[in-house]
Amino acid sequence: MKKPSEKINKRFNLADQMVLIGIFLAFLYWGLEAFLNVFSPEEINFYRQIFGPNVSEMWMRLIVLCLFMIFGSHVQHIINKRKKAETELLESYRKLHNARMATILGLAKLAEYRDEGTGTHLERIREYAKIIAEEMAKNPKYAGHITPEFIDDIYQSSILHDIGKVGIPDAVLLKPGRLSDEEFDVIKRHTNLGGDAIKAIEMQIEGQSFLALGKEIAYNHHEKWDGSGYPRGLNGEDIPLSARIIALADVYDALTTKRFYKEAYTHEKSRQIIIDLKGTHFDPEVLDVFLVLADEFDRIRLENLDEETELMKPLTQPN
Ligand SMILES: [Fe+2]
Repeated sequence: MKKPSEKINKRFNLADQMVLIGIFLAFLYWGLEAFLNVFSPEEINFYRQIFGPNVSEMWMRLIVLCLFMIFGSHVQHIINKRKKAETELLESYRKLHNARMATILGLAKLAEYRDEGTGTHLERIREYAKIIAEEMAKNPKYAGHITPEFIDDIYQSSILHDIGKVGIPDAVLLKPGRLSDEEFDVIKRHTNLGGDAIKAIEMQIEGQSFLALGKEIAYNHHEKWDGSGYPRGLNGEDIPLSARIIALADVYDALTTKRFYKEAYTHEKSRQIIIDLKGTHFDPEVLDVFLVLADEFDRIRLENLDEETELMKPLTQPN
């Protein structure tokens, strides 16, 4: 158990101690002044000879110095307190942000486990989305659209793109062979199911821009540039930019990793397939950015790949 003196000492930091010293010196001066007044003028002159003819001015300077120390130490004390509060607030925000990211990733993985197993598809998707958005932000055309907040939001929300798969029956979702038209119609529902689920969450929580972005990605990530996609058959720039970015990232990841219906293609093979879909499946501008970043995509793929579950012997070998 701490002694009371220890508790008291802890309360006074350096700034407080300086204030006390200042007050003490001021009282000391007033005490000396009162004491000197007791003496006769001759005696005062005696002290003037010791301290100098301007002894009064010297005391004034000391008072000003004491006041300056008191004021300065108080200001420093307030600044220190504010800095400490700001640091604590930032740390709380960082912890909250990380907790939110982990929760979203956990929920998205629950949906993903149903058909993609225990791989790291979601971790790669968000990295791909982030580097595309960062590169596109350099284009003045997107200056007002792709802001740092947009990049942060797409990084967080991209992993929710397939969350609607939880509503698709196993018999269809996990069917190894070719799907009938009716079965494919069932698969298509995951876009609206996911979008509606995020929309419902968004209505409960105000000011969460990543949910608005997550919703538009979930609804639109299977739309195609030429209008042949689903669920609404949007085309061109009617498809939200976020969904155009995720469409490419999602297809690249599907091509380069093993799925229960296919083996993994090499980076080069996948790159060529994507180039061939320019202007039909993919936004030409997003695709151009992908070509600039192709080596980065390959690096992210290799760094985040679970070789055992996601990369079997590729069907094609690099040239
Ligand atoms: Fe999907």
